[in-house]
Amino acid sequence: MHDELCLDGNPTLNLSSFVTTWMEPEADRIIQENIGKNLIDHFQYPQTQVIQDRIINMLGRLYNAPDDADFTGTGCVGSSEAIMLALLAHKWTWKNSLEAEKKAVDKPNIIFGADAHVCWNKFAKYFDVEPRIIPMESDRFTISRDTVEELIDENTICVGTILGTTFTGEIDPIQEINELLVSIKETKGWDIPIHVDAASGGFVIPFVSPDFKWDFRLSSVKSINVSSHKYGLVYPSMGWLIFREKSDVPEDLIFYVNYLGDETPTYSLNFSSSSSLMLAQYYNFLRFGKEGYKQIMTGIMENARYLAKLLENSGKFDMLNSAEFFPVVTVKLKQPEKYTIFELSHKLRERGWILPAYTLPKNTEYIALMRVVVKENFSQEMADVLFDDIMKACEVLEGNKKEKHKPERSTDEGHFVT
Ligand SMILES: Cc1ncc(COP(=O)(O)O)c(C=O)c1O
Repeated sequence: MHDELCLDGNPTLNLSSFVTTWMEPEADRIIQENIGKNLIDHFQYPQTQVIQDRIINMLGRLYNAPDDADFTGTGCVGSSEAIMLALLAHKWTWKNSLEAEKKAVDKPNIIFGADAHVCWNKFAKYFDVEPRIIPMESDRFTISRDTVEELIDENTICVGTILGTTFTGEIDPIQEINELLVSIKETKGWDIPIHVDAASGGFVIPFVSPDFKWDFRLSSVKSINVSSHKYGLVYPSMGWLIFREKSDVPEDLIFYVNYLGDETPTYSLNFSSSSSLMLAQYYNFLRFGKEGYKQIMTGIMENARYLAKLLENSGKFDMLNSAEFFPVVTVKLKQPEKYTIFELSHKLRERGWILPAYTLPKNTEYIALMRVVVKENFSQEMADVLFDDIMKACEVLEGNKKEKHKPERSTDEGHFVT
């Protein structure tokens, strides 16, 4: 098995994914020691539960829950589960409030952008909610206040916003959308919540741009998710959902089970999971502290901007995102007639680099780009090496340079020489 798995890509060179590929040996030890503890068994593993509650407390405060708010939360498999649980709670709150007014509850809708992760579409399909998806435009890859305003109505259960989109790494204008929802509440009485998908941004922005308001400082933000396995610096799979108030989770969605030796409340889609990664998150919090996360995230941002500058100065790429706020660099080719970004991505794979090339969603599918997700393990030296490799690959694809080791047929002997 060990040898067979060597056929996989090298996780260290996997710049396609946000997922953490390395942790400190001490964290590995905590993970090993606790891998067999089921996180749901609160009665058997009470201390593990105490630590989980501490993390929820730390995250609520990191996301600036107001002093008088009684925030709550839960650990999840990842952001996908967290998002589904958040949206389900908002759907229920919407249903309860319309039923109280004896109104129909058969046409819920949810607004989010084409910049959202697939889990948002999954929620709409699995939980039978009409998705009102705001398309991207050639000059706009996020949603906007006006586009939300056009789609919103009394049956909107929630507006989804993204702190670091999957496609370009940009941030939806959360403050402006909050202003819109506050004014709609005042004028029309519709109390529509914002859920912030901070899957990757939730461990970056609070440390590198603490004054940037996207979280519970905005009154319509009722729930936030974050993935530990992205910039929480923990291996997969662990995520979190934080609600601004306990009352944001309708009581009839919480189940109390007694078959584990105690009355355990659960609000989750799955049941059993290992405690290891939750504890690994706590290890990082203690080990790095706020100051440590700030240093790491600042370093990551510097390296991302360094790489972005190199790519921009090469003259070969148009920059879609130069890591101004978030450590993702997205580029498209200035001259895609000569070769495609897919060919470039493929060529880089020969050196071991994994950089995805993809097209944007419907309406902008003619834009093909390549994304580099800069993580903790990606040093400035690695940025230099990657940049050199990108330049060499471009030269080969442009036909300006022969590949050294490409076999050529010898004219006289009929065999391959290199
Ligand atoms: C913005 C965003 N939301 C949600 C997700 C899904 O997160 P998870 O893989 O933790 O379920 C991702 C994953 O890349 C993401 O980037």
